[in-house]
Amino acid sequence: MLHMVKKYENFLDMVIYQIYPKSFKDTNGDGIGDIQGIIEKLDYLQDLGVNAIWLCPCYKSPGHDNGYDISDYRCIAPEYGTMEDMYCLIAEMRKRGMKLIMDLVPNHTSNEHEWFIRSRKGEEKYRDYYYWFDKPQNDWGASFGGSAWQYDDEREQYYLHSYAVQQPDLNWTNPAVVKEIQDVINYWVNLGVDGFRIDVIDQISKNFDGQNSFGPHLHEYIHAMFGRDNVKDIFTVGECWAGDIDEIRRHIDYDRGELSTLFQFDHLEAGRVGKFTPGEKNLKKVRDKIVMWQLKLQDFGLIHSLFTDNHDNAPFISRVADDHSLRYESATCVAAMFYLLRGIPFIYQGQEIGITTSSYDSMASFNDLECFNAYQEFLKAGCTEKEALNKVNFGSRDNARRPFAWDNSRYAGFSTHEPWLPIASRADEINLAIDQQAEKSVFRFYRDLLRLRREEPALRRGVTDVISAEEDNFFIFTRTLDDRVFTVVCNFEQPSAIEDSKGFGSEILHNYLDRKAGNTAFRPYEIAVFVSNHQ
Ligand code: GLC
Repeated sequence: MLHMVKKYENFLDMVIYQIYPKSFKDTNGDGIGDIQGIIEKLDYLQDLGVNAIWLCPCYKSPGHDNGYDISDYRCIAPEYGTMEDMYCLIAEMRKRGMKLIMDLVPNHTSNEHEWFIRSRKGEEKYRDYYYWFDKPQNDWGASFGGSAWQYDDEREQYYLHSYAVQQPDLNWTNPAVVKEIQDVINYWVNLGVDGFRIDVIDQISKNFDGQNSFGPHLHEYIHAMFGRDNVKDIFTVGECWAGDIDEIRRHIDYDRGELSTLFQFDHLEAGRVGKFTPGEKNLKKVRDKIVMWQLKLQDFGLIHSLFTDNHDNAPFISRVADDHSLRYESATCVAAMFYLLRGIPFIYQGQEIGITTSSYDSMASFNDLECFNAYQEFLKAGCTEKEALNKVNFGSRDNARRPFAWDNSRYAGFSTHEPWLPIASRADEINLAIDQQAEKSVFRFYRDLLRLRREEPALRRGVTDVISAEEDNFFIFTRTLDDRVFTVVCNFEQPSAIEDSKGFGSEILHNYLDRKAGNTAFRPYEIAVFVSNHQ
């Protein structure tokens, strides 16, 4: 195993909570979450045990892709508040010793960004800020459907958009574009942010003769962003949809000025076939994927980002486990499986109360352009409206973006006004107030788990070894630092019996409340954590 560069190691102490600002907490009664809402909930987040926030885009944007179409990188969208609110958030976080990670979207802007408006006019300075050609350069499709090339009447040329038509791709081969993004990074770092999550980073360098990712200049561009002295110490996590371990390995190198870590998504494909069709529920497959990445990244001395949910995917437990009668057990089991490994836990808002997918009987309850495009495709492919709606109910990104359910009041305590997106269909049953009062509380389990992680260096810095075998229907791993050894046992769907656990030491965390210490029979999704001191 390679040793991790010392200054990287502090990153292993972070526990990052991802906030989707539009849906977290509304304080001004317009049905849209805001920065003041985040400030109001900082104590809640601290109580949960997180010490950093990744804030999804809250910049000025026409909102075709909910903020990932940015029209001004230096300005907060008015619906979220003002720059004063932002300064206040940074100061309040500082006070609590929390770090702020902003979302950086360098692959594309909004078509309402000044750069694009001036570029489509053909203004000298901005002419080559985007990819303009007289004809499409290839047959790339856009991620939200249709061709990635759009004819523009004003410029009388085609431009590239890897996502929606309203999201033109920036031309990174133009040094002026690189400089613009460097300036944006500097701007936020100077305001006090501690790092960035970088949107679709694998796509910023293009190879028009190949796939739309991992182009030939990718590392040069990453280096241009983060290899500079003033930003070398910040935390960076790149969103990376493809790539094998060797490719990934080239992306994570702090000293070379690349990334601190990245998200890769292998394990998220569990429980589905494509995004909108349910697949086999199988935690074993999830285990095998994360084990593979955990051990390889550890061997290379790199940081693993530990996550199951985000704003682009319907809640994980609904796909891979039982989100009805064993919802608490499923949510807590998945948390133990991921967040006690070596790496940085990323918790998406609502996971800590065990949110699930929703179900609606009309497309009027949805907002995301991805699911509207997909719905049309399903109809074209011969699905009935009901079948198409079922698929959307299963896979829509809106499932993850429903307003946070704080309590049982009219709009789930999120707002006093009808929210921008209907609240989750199970919000009466799954909300923070109910969860905190429940005997089986997902929140309390998360809090206990994070406290343990915080108090025990072995759970942050320790080495991971996997004990269970591939054929086992459970997952057992250890975390060791010096002579302190933690053993984590996570059982899956079926009851299982493990061999004697006496050697594991004493039990310090479990999810089934009536568990008897030392019991070797594990019920569905039962977990237990043991600790011992080896001489
Ligand atoms: C990323 C974001 C997603 C967005 C897309 C285009 O995948 O996570 O929400 O739609 O990039 O910016």
